[in-house]
Amino acid sequence: MKIRFADARPKGDYALVLPVGGKDRKSLGALGQSQQSAAEALDRQRFDGEGSSVSEQFIDDAGATRRLLVIGTGTGTPGGAASEKLGGTAAARLQTSGEKTAVIDLTGLGYDADAAARVGLGAALRSWRYDRYRTKLKDNQKPTLGEVVVVGAGSGAGKRYDQRWAAVVEGVSLTRELVTEPANIIYPESFVERVQAAVKGSGLEVEVLDRAAMAKLGMGALLGVAQGSIREARLLVLKWNGGGKAGQPTAFVGKGVTFDTGGISIKPAAGMEAMKWDMGGAGAVAGALKALALRKAKANIVGICGLVENMPGGNAQRPGDVVTTMSGQTVEVINTDAEGRLVLADAVCYVQRKFKPSTVIDLATLTGAILISLGHEWAGLFSNDEDLAGKLQRAGEESGDKLWRMPLAESFDRLIDSPIADMKNVGPREGGSITAAQFIQRFVEDGTKWAHIDMAGKAWSDKAGSTYDKGATGYGVRLLDQYVADVLER
Ligand code: BES
Ligand code: MN
Ligand code: ZN
Repeated sequence: MKIRFADARPKGDYALVLPVGGKDRKSLGALGQSQQSAAEALDRQRFDGEGSSVSEQFIDDAGATRRLLVIGTGTGTPGGAASEKLGGTAAARLQTSGEKTAVIDLTGLGYDADAAARVGLGAALRSWRYDRYRTKLKDNQKPTLGEVVVVGAGSGAGKRYDQRWAAVVEGVSLTRELVTEPANIIYPESFVERVQAAVKGSGLEVEVLDRAAMAKLGMGALLGVAQGSIREARLLVLKWNGGGKAGQPTAFVGKGVTFDTGGISIKPAAGMEAMKWDMGGAGAVAGALKALALRKAKANIVGICGLVENMPGGNAQRPGDVVTTMSGQTVEVINTDAEGRLVLADAVCYVQRKFKPSTVIDLATLTGAILISLGHEWAGLFSNDEDLAGKLQRAGEESGDKLWRMPLAESFDRLIDSPIADMKNVGPREGGSITAAQFIQRFVEDGTKWAHIDMAGKAWSDKAGSTYDKGATGYGVRLLDQYVADVLER
């Protein structure tokens, strides 16, 4: 989707989009002689201007028949999430409508540069789709909308979009692509290749560790998960050095289980196909690093993707096996389906030993239990640092990638003690997301600020939102981008 910013409406064919904030219908002034009839149509449709209410009609625009979408934006100063929702709603409604161009006219409505830019952001994000495997789409199912023009926002909007949000769109799109692809296409090796191709020329440094390299480092937990699969594990390292020499980097670590059958502790058949998106944390890390590189963020970031496939097989690890992690700590693998924490244990250890980051933020589709706690609206946030937790929660609010703080405590930590090894990989059913977080915390070294984001309810959505269609959401990219902007770039 092409997003443009202009001072005036273009000539020719397009659908006109006008925002209306509650009862205030001043935007209809743009319709000239059709204003009266358009207003009457709104009344007869019981249009109230509430957020994301939509009225569609055709008007006479100086002799031409033009499609008009009036979109409610609610009351208050235009900005932020409401702006994205406006752009997203317009794009969703017009994507397969037959219209090639949408003109969203903000003239005189008080949108500042960022608010107007975020109208474009919403449109770009909401119109992402992946038709690679759909060879039989009917003509009227194919997208027609190729361009969204945001009009009347003043000169700063285009610049703001280009400098910040265009990069975010690229990052989110990469994440969604990785998450959407099935597991016969995206497995550890091909994940790496796909990301390498996607970040080429961005200035990101890429490093890849194969099985031999990880074995040498003693990553027995990550490799234990991978050993049941014929797909070899990978550790992908993406580095962005935009902050100059000074200071320790910030690390993002993602769980990248390209398919999670559960292993020998195999999952039930129903719904197992969802486990292709068990690499959503790693996908978010890759997308965020791409976005940060494209917008040349003034920060030093290292992104780590721990990539494995969790399969049952003749060489798969068994319940009861004891593995030795890179940290030297041993783990009794009670349940081979609690594999994400095993992958993260070694990835989190590695990033600290190798890069000495001040802060480690891990993202993972880690537990079904977090869905029971928080449903699909919030991801769970666990942290050993109040300040870091607060900053992440704020970034979550600003970006829409929301976080709800969950507890950590000694009493939960005790639940994963093992009689044969230093710890076991599962606790009791109760508090399952918390004991999972406690497990990861055992690999966080003294002095490292750490946050763990359990995003099992967020990587995929069964219903459309204002900036995504149903399917892969791209959760995490905007959160990390916002965190970097708020905390590291000032
Ligand atoms: N990838 C799953 C978590 C998950 C479950 C994500 C459902 C999204 C939807 C994870 O590897 C897993 O299997 N966790 C187990 C842990 C249990 C064995 C302690 C779970 O949550 O059931
Ligand atoms: Mn699992
Ligand atoms: Zn998993």
